[in-house]
Amino acid sequence: MTQSNNNSFSSSLGAIMAAVGSAVGLGNIWRFPYICGKYGGGAFLLVYLCFAFGIGMVLMMSEFVIGRRSRHTPMRAFASLSPRRKGWRYIGLLGIVTCFFILSQYFVISGWTLSYFFDAVTGRLATMGQDAAAIGCYFTEFSTSASRPVVFLTVFALLTAVVILCGVQKGIEAVSKVLMPVLVVLLVVLCIRSLTLPGASRGLSYLFSPDFSKLSAEGVLAALGQAMFSLSVGMGVMIVYGSYIPASDDLFRTSMWITASDVLIAVLSGVAIFPAVFSCGLEPAGGPGLSYCVLPNVFNSMGGVTGVVFSAIFFLLLSIAALTSSISLLEALSAWLVETLRTRRFVSTLIIVAAEIALASIVSLSNGMWSHLQVGGDTFFDFVDRLNSIYLPPLCAFGTVLFFAWVMPEADVRDELTNHGVLRAVYYPVFRFIVRWLAPLALVVVFLTSILT
Ligand code: PHE
Repeated sequence: MTQSNNNSFSSSLGAIMAAVGSAVGLGNIWRFPYICGKYGGGAFLLVYLCFAFGIGMVLMMSEFVIGRRSRHTPMRAFASLSPRRKGWRYIGLLGIVTCFFILSQYFVISGWTLSYFFDAVTGRLATMGQDAAAIGCYFTEFSTSASRPVVFLTVFALLTAVVILCGVQKGIEAVSKVLMPVLVVLLVVLCIRSLTLPGASRGLSYLFSPDFSKLSAEGVLAALGQAMFSLSVGMGVMIVYGSYIPASDDLFRTSMWITASDVLIAVLSGVAIFPAVFSCGLEPAGGPGLSYCVLPNVFNSMGGVTGVVFSAIFFLLLSIAALTSSISLLEALSAWLVETLRTRRFVSTLIIVAAEIALASIVSLSNGMWSHLQVGGDTFFDFVDRLNSIYLPPLCAFGTVLFFAWVMPEADVRDELTNHGVLRAVYYPVFRFIVRWLAPLALVVVFLTSILT
């Protein structure tokens, strides 16, 4: 067997914090609450919980097993776990490609977030008052302009690179251990503010009151896609983090903690956002529209210093969530390059970051100056978005789960989940059934419906 990477997290807590950092991202804060409300509130939440724990968490455990068993990054992990069928390593490569595209888009949006954080702190957002048109206009002008988004995405990318350069324990683990609690505190502060606004209950009922008539087949598929994206599975990131998990950790418990925290933070984000939106008489929106057009209006309605403070808190929260997710993506790419080219971490990180900044700049510029840069009728931004949401993650997750359930020796899987026979793993028969049948079937359905509709 080839030499394994010799990095690791120092403790179970460090591993959980880092993986929660990866899982909690833009997906939790600006995507989950919106689609939850759109597809039937409590009804959607129920389906989402089933998918998060029944499929997302199972995929996460599978990736952890692959990573910890092999102590390698995806490509080599697949090759080393089935030495006679090395072709599977291309699934690992697909994961790397997926990480590469996702990170480019993530950097663009993280750059916007950082820029808005500055606008919030300097009071620039506040000067627009409660003028939805002006705020919307500002966002369009900003996101389509050439220089500012590129400058901020570059700053954000360099910040991410600094953490990676500090190493697995002193960088990723240390930063996650500080930032995740900060994120929770900021989120709770926002929740309290939002819940104490007049008319907050309308937001809560939008989020939670179950309406099964709104839960269409599309909503069910959206729930599965969201569960996978939110838990960062299907692109090999959790294989890399798995390779750093201490040998004595119970992978079931670790995955349970991560999934529960991720779901909780998604729900809290909804509680922080929608009561405030409804209390201002505004309409909920998803994605960029929510964070950059609707919410600044909400904060401005709080008036003066209060508005400035709460908008700064929100954009700081979003920046933290984006940073710890970007860290995991960059780590996966950089560790892969270290293993492939046998370079130093410093060199590989710089190469990847430079390439990502270049790609992210193209993605960003395609919103404005380079809008003529089209692929199949889509702007480059929309093309990358399509790759990231429809094609790459389900394909890669499908390949990973097939490998895990049908190719990798079952004895290795059992050995890893029971920590060489120390743990009992009573859940194993159910787990095995899900990875062999349910998860692959669900992924095929998601993939086919999304490309055919
Ligand atoms: N889980 C992150 C989010 O919810 C996104 C992500 C996907 C991060 C894959 C890393 C890897 O936003």
